[in-house]
Amino acid sequence: MNVKILAATAEHSVFAERICDMILESAKQRGTGIASRTPEYVAQKIRDGKAVVAIDVDANRVVGFSYIETWGHGKFVANSGLIVDPDYRYMGLAFKIKKKIFNLSRQKYPNARIFGITTGQAVMKINSALGYVPVTFAELTDDQEFWDGCKGCRNYDILERTNHRMCLCTGMLYDPEKHKSLWQKSVDFIRRHNARAQRLRFRWWMRHRRQKQKRLVRFAREKK
Ligand SMILES: CC(C)(COP(=O)(O)OP(=O)(O)OC[C@H]1O[C@@H](n2cnc3c(N)ncnc32)[C@H](O)[C@@H]1OP(=O)(O)O)[C@@H](O)C(=O)NCCC(=O)NCCS
Repeated sequence: MNVKILAATAEHSVFAERICDMILESAKQRGTGIASRTPEYVAQKIRDGKAVVAIDVDANRVVGFSYIETWGHGKFVANSGLIVDPDYRYMGLAFKIKKKIFNLSRQKYPNARIFGITTGQAVMKINSALGYVPVTFAELTDDQEFWDGCKGCRNYDILERTNHRMCLCTGMLYDPEKHKSLWQKSVDFIRRHNARAQRLRFRWWMRHRRQKQKRLVRFAREKK
């Protein structure tokens, strides 16, 4: 068994159908609702470079998947659709896939907060290892389209009853601001300081130029 975890490229879009089947089968087995993901949607994510695939190279078979979704105009990112083929579970694949998609999300959206909602113990473990912390739903995106994705879940009535404040899922969040090193914080401070100094210098220069022009006009009038 030779499994490779790869940032997906267009050639992997042929696996979209199998990925959707795996997601559907697992949702049926778990008796949970499922956000509708068509093979076209999954293939588009793959072509856009917003997905990670696990491929058993010897069998030329897709055995795991996850993809990136953005919410709230890119302020929030979710790594969704995590699935591992039942024959390949408990081998650490989900952890490797999550780590890869997390790093890809950080690279593509360095300032976005990365979040997820889950009831799965495996996902909670993996998220914690990546630096996510449990949060209330109020700290997650308020993008209605994201929450509409819960409509297919059989517990949706709980979410409705609590006015979207809580449900059976745990919200988990990775806030890049909280993981900045002292060095990064200092660089950010200096950048902000330099930008402000530049704005002030520009304003001073404009005022100086206006005054100079006024003086020249006055001088010309006096000469006449
Ligand atoms: C959840 C899932 C992705 C885990 O895949 P996996 O490759 O078996 O997970 P890993 O081997 O990387 O395990 C990661 C950790 O979770 C634990 N774990 C895995 N499956 C678990 C389960 N069903 N219940 C509790 N813990 C589990 C592992 O023991 C491991 O913990 P450790 O690091 O302390 O040893 C896989 O079972 C799956 O595809 N399930 C169906 C889809 C699903 O539930 N997706 C998540 C939607 S939020």
